[in-house]
Amino acid sequence: LQTLPPLELAAKYFQIFPEERDPLWQNPCHDKRHKDIWSKEKTCDRLPKFLVIGPQKTGTTALHSFLTLHPAITSSFPSPVTFEEIQFFNGPNYHNGIDWYMDFFPFPSNASTDFMFEKSANYFDTEVVPKRAAALLPRAKIITVLINPTDRAYSWYQHQRAHQDPSAINYTFHQVVTAGLSSSKELLVLQSRSLKPGEYATHLERWLLHFQSKQLHIVDGAMLRSNPALVMEGIQRFLGVTPIFNYTQALMFDEGKGFWCQRIEGSRPKCLGKSKGRKYPEMAPETRAFLTEYYREHNMELLRLLNRLGLTPPSWLREELQSSS
Ligand code: A3P
Repeated sequence: LQTLPPLELAAKYFQIFPEERDPLWQNPCHDKRHKDIWSKEKTCDRLPKFLVIGPQKTGTTALHSFLTLHPAITSSFPSPVTFEEIQFFNGPNYHNGIDWYMDFFPFPSNASTDFMFEKSANYFDTEVVPKRAAALLPRAKIITVLINPTDRAYSWYQHQRAHQDPSAINYTFHQVVTAGLSSSKELLVLQSRSLKPGEYATHLERWLLHFQSKQLHIVDGAMLRSNPALVMEGIQRFLGVTPIFNYTQALMFDEGKGFWCQRIEGSRPKCLGKSKGRKYPEMAPETRAFLTEYYREHNMELLRLLNRLGLTPPSWLREELQSSS
C-alpha cells in the first residue's frame, strides 16, 4: 500500500475524481461516519432554521428587520465584508466551508426553540443554491418575497443608478430592458440582472426540486409593504415560532418615509435607510407595457404553480395577467 503526504494525496485524489472538486457540504451530524470525525468541541446546531432567499428589491431588508424584532428569532451576524448578507451558498464563500458559515451564527441557547436565520437575497435566482442549501439544511424552511416583477426590475435599475453603475447612468430603463443582442456586454448584463430574477416560476421550480412545498413560504411583497403585521403573523404560523409576537404594536407607519417602520421608545419610528424606499420617477407607461408583455408567460407559469400548490395568487399577479390578456 502506497501513500503520499496530505497535499500531494489530495492532488492525486482530485486527479482521479475531478467531479468531486466542487464540494457539496452536508451536516456532519446527519451521517455517523462524519459525526465520528467531527471535532468534539464543535456543534451542528450553529446553522439556520430558515432562509430568506430574496429575490433582491422585493422588501427583503424590511422583512429581515421585522424578523429580528421577534424575541425567539435571531439573525446571522452581519458579514464584515458586506456589512450585511453572508452570501454563502451562491458564490466563492461556499468554498470557505461550513465552519466559516457557522461562525456567523451564535451558539443557540436552545436548539429546538431558537429560530436562527439568514437573508441573502440572491439565493433565489442563483442556480446552484437550492441544491447546496438542501444538502446542508434539508429541513430548513424557505421564505421568498414576490412583488410585481416589472416593479422589481425597475427598482433594481434604480438601485444600480444609485450605485453609479455606468450602464444604468448612460441608458434609460427603457433602453436597458429593450436592448437587443448586439448591444454592449455591460448593457446586456444589466438587462439580464434586471429581468431574470423576475422569472419567478423558473426559479421556484428549481427550489421545489430540492425542498418540499410545505417547506416553502411565499410572501406577497405588496402586502408586506401595505400590511406587514398581517404578513408577519402568517410567517410566524408557517415557522411554528412561539410566542406569536404582536407586530401591530411593534410597527408604525411613517408618513414622511411612506413605509412601515419599527416603533421605538416614545412611539418614534425607526425606518430603514435612504437606500430602501427610494424616491424616483414613475416608470414610463410604454416600458411598463413592454415588461407586462415580457413577463406574461412567466406570470402565467407562476399562476399555474401557485394553483398546483393550492396557494392564493397575490393581487398584483391577477391584475398583471388581466392587464396583459
Ligand atoms: P425601492 O427602494 O425601489 O422602493 P430589498 O430590501 O429587498 O432590496 O428591497 C427594497 C425595497 O423594499 C424598496 O424598494 C421598497 O419598495 C421595499 N419595501 C417594502 N417595505 C419596506 C419598508 N417597510 N421600508 C422600506 N422599504 C420597503
